[in-house]
Amino acid sequence: MRKTVIAGNWKLNNTSKEAIELVTLLKRDLLDITEVDIVVCPVSTVLADVRDVLTESNIKIGAQNLFWEDKGAFTGEISAPLLKDAGAEYVIIGHSERRQYFGETNETVNKKIKAALVHGLSPIVCVGENLEQRETDKAFDVIETQCRESLAGFTAAEMKKIIIAYEPIWAIGTGKTASPDQAQEIHQFIRGLLVEMHDQELADSITIQYGGSVKPENIKDLIAQKDIDGALVGGASLKRDSFVAIVTGAC
Ligand code: 13P
Repeated sequence: MRKTVIAGNWKLNNTSKEAIELVTLLKRDLLDITEVDIVVCPVSTVLADVRDVLTESNIKIGAQNLFWEDKGAFTGEISAPLLKDAGAEYVIIGHSERRQYFGETNETVNKKIKAALVHGLSPIVCVGENLEQRETDKAFDVIETQCRESLAGFTAAEMKKIIIAYEPIWAIGTGKTASPDQAQEIHQFIRGLLVEMHDQELADSITIQYGGSVKPENIKDLIAQKDIDGALVGGASLKRDSFVAIVTGAC
């Protein structure tokens, strides 16, 4: 069966002190949770601090981005081996904010997934349409291209290490969540694509998260959908109470 994964994407937030405070509380509050996998994704500079708090915890650590080369003359970048060294087990790749502000393309996403897999990091690969694309009935085409190009060339064994996050851009940070039906429709579509690209068994094994204004109030209805296997949470993952409520709501 697919594992439910709730991941908090902290984006560009939390100093070392704030991060340590938050994960110290989360570690205690979420101690007994075994039903879902829990991941927090801090900024790279605080990964090791967070790791030091979360040793012997059920909360895993993810990074928010990586470069595809391991090392060398690439000023300002961070690589999979360095993220592993700092305690990461997951890495978000191709978030819409990276596509929008930092020129990420399906091609670079594909290279980054490859680098993550080589070093044993589980990629959380983001796809999603913007408002204009949704309103002009292009959402399915956009998501199909993102999935086919970003996920091109991976074996079934590699695919099984990948999580896909469907994040409609119009729902990110807007308070406007996709309805459970709207989200389910796209999740089902993505799973269908995975059947075409691989087979049913592979498609059935892949965790597909929803992201975009996930809150304690809507997690239960979203997670109740057949093809929604977790959430990638932005704003609500920065507060102890709301993240704990989302995780417990998904159990
Ligand atoms: P919000 O939950 O703040 O809408 O952000 C979603 C997101 O982008 C998670 O990656």
